[in-house]
Amino acid sequence: MIRIISDYSMKKLIAFNWKMYPKKAADIEGLLLAFDDANIDTDRYEIAIAPPAVYLPMIADIFYEVKADISLAMQNCAWQSEGALTGEISAEMGKNVGADYAIIGHSERRMHLGETDEVVNKKVKAAMGARLGVILCVGEPIEVRKQGIVVVKKYIKRQIDGALHAIEPSSYRGIELCIAYEPIWAIGTGKAATPEDAVEVIAFIRSILNTNYGIPTARILYGGSVNAKNVTLFVEHDGIDGALVGGASINKKELKSILKTLHS
Ligand code: PGA
Repeated sequence: MIRIISDYSMKKLIAFNWKMYPKKAADIEGLLLAFDDANIDTDRYEIAIAPPAVYLPMIADIFYEVKADISLAMQNCAWQSEGALTGEISAEMGKNVGADYAIIGHSERRMHLGETDEVVNKKVKAAMGARLGVILCVGEPIEVRKQGIVVVKKYIKRQIDGALHAIEPSSYRGIELCIAYEPIWAIGTGKAATPEDAVEVIAFIRSILNTNYGIPTARILYGGSVNAKNVTLFVEHDGIDGALVGGASINKKELKSILKTLHS
């Protein structure tokens, strides 16, 4: 489904990044049970699940059957639309099995799978070419954070400029670009940034998108150790448009508690 930006940008986006979990497909239904009586305020929140790609068709079928108002995201996509690229999955393939978004440039892929800004740029273009919404991840390592906010902003600007290089402003029409600010030192560490720290960088990202790219409406999320205890601090904050939740979203109890905070 192609998201019309004006429909969705008003809602906070809570995206669940399941990383390389669950190990068994049989465990998916258990996780999805958390949504059963969650009574999410869907006027206010858009929920997206980013499972490993092999599970996308199965989850899309379940959502279709129960008419769930939940979006689906790929965790990655190939930078080409087709070709001899053993093991890769194109954005179009993801879209054809039900994905609405592609997460691009997650720090785990940048760190462990060698994704450079140039690769991220190609993947953003590939996802947009397949008319998937993009959730572009940016965030600084601890060594950069230690050098202070000016250096952090410089680092983030380089990542954004790299990712959005040579994309015509008209390409964004009808395709949603979201940014997830995920400081690397906060991912999987249990040490989330403070909402104030997150907002400072998010406001900076907003200003770059507006001034340099003519994108005033992008949703900018926070990610990094978001859990049931702190999720409202981020998603209820006026300056933050949602959250990208990793580890906590693959724990049934925690997922249920997070969803409870989003009830209508
Ligand atoms: P975390 O991961 O919530 O486990 O810190 C966030 C992410 O990787 O997107």
